Amino acid sequence: MADSYRVVVVGMGKRGVHHASAFHANKRFSLVGISDLDPARLKDAQKLGSPEASTDAPALVRKLKPDVFCFCTPPTVRLDLIRLGVESGARLIAFEKPVATSSAEAMKIRDLLSGSGAKAVVSHQHRYGAHYRKTAEIIQGGTLGRIHTVYATASGWMLHMASHLIDYMRWYAGGVEAEWVLAQAVGRGKLTDLHTSPDYLAGFIQFAGGLRGTLECGAGAPDVPEVDYWWRKCRIGALGTDGFAEVLTGGGWRSVTKAGISSGTGSMNYDLDMPPYIQDMADWLDGKKVHPCNFESAYKGHEIMMAMVRSAALGGQVALPLASGMDELALLKEKLPEAKVLLSFSGNQKEYGA
Ligand SMILES: NC(=O)c1ccc[n+]([C@@H]2O[C@H](COP(=O)([O-])OP(=O)(O)OC[C@H]3O[C@@H](n4cnc5c(N)ncnc54)[C@H](O)[C@@H]3O)[C@@H](O)[C@H]2O)c1
Repeated sequence: MADSYRVVVVGMGKRGVHHASAFHANKRFSLVGISDLDPARLKDAQKLGSPEASTDAPALVRKLKPDVFCFCTPPTVRLDLIRLGVESGARLIAFEKPVATSSAEAMKIRDLLSGSGAKAVVSHQHRYGAHYRKTAEIIQGGTLGRIHTVYATASGWMLHMASHLIDYMRWYAGGVEAEWVLAQAVGRGKLTDLHTSPDYLAGFIQFAGGLRGTLECGAGAPDVPEVDYWWRKCRIGALGTDGFAEVLTGGGWRSVTKAGISSGTGSMNYDLDMPPYIQDMADWLDGKKVHPCNFESAYKGHEIMMAMVRSAALGGQVALPLASGMDELALLKEKLPEAKVLLSFSGNQKEYGA
């Protein structure tokens, strides 16, 4: 077991700073390098223990050959950095959701990683929230009886939110495999966003064993009136034969079982979620356990999201796993009608228009 694992973080925006700070604060890691295209974003390196700072990520990574290569770049910057991490010999590659912007790219990433032996982790760190974990504990504890439905909604748009929602639905579904999806999409407004998405995506996921998933993401998804903060208007839960349990990203958890009604507090909090997320990377590298946010699991969630986009663009059900890759968002740009999205509540006007 190494005393500490050497880390380089590329992309020092909001999430890169979260990651670099959490690595720097953990004794099992030593932050040796940071990079961003924008030199202004490297000026606070001193606060992070003065790692080597560079605007040239490939040169920095090839020079430092870190054990852990982490990148927190916009969704369009993935495959080249995975290749860089693999070629530099990183033992673990940690990167931000979404896994990719198409199934074709995700499959290339999967093939690069599986041929390399590098472990990989994708940042679905909401899993560490006490309210998310409490909901999982109730579902896994059996008091809901047989789980027949998992559901998730978010007001934020697909490429921001669906990656999270599907990951937590799969967790609450016990990790069973998805068999097919059927989805609809509407609204071209966010097709030009960096997190390229239809304004509203809604659909069904059929999981093995007859377990049904429902997903709604964006302008038409129902309000979560219990939560004020717009980005945290997310509801994820499970229905069983004997009750239900759900988490609200910004509003705690609640359940109804044969034993009665229970609820508790909790709100997504980077300061609380990042330390255990980072510690689990050390534990995985040490051989103690597999990281709960492992790439293999994230890939399956991403595949569900892209299958839903295919279904929305082409119509009909899409079988999983996908047999071959394509650029689903390019296809959606081609096929999605001009019709404006209709909103579910006035709070969505600011992001999606009237
Ligand atoms: N897990 C979460 O809860 C969560 C929350 C917010 C954002 N995200 C995801 O994190 C990713 C980054 O989001 P953000 O909000 O930090 O974005 P950001 O725009 O604040 O930061 C991205 C940074 O990457 C830099 N960059 C881009 N290409 C680069 C390259 N080739 N080399 C070096 N630097 C490069 C940019 O200059 C920028 O500073 C996105 O994929 C987003 O979806 C995840």
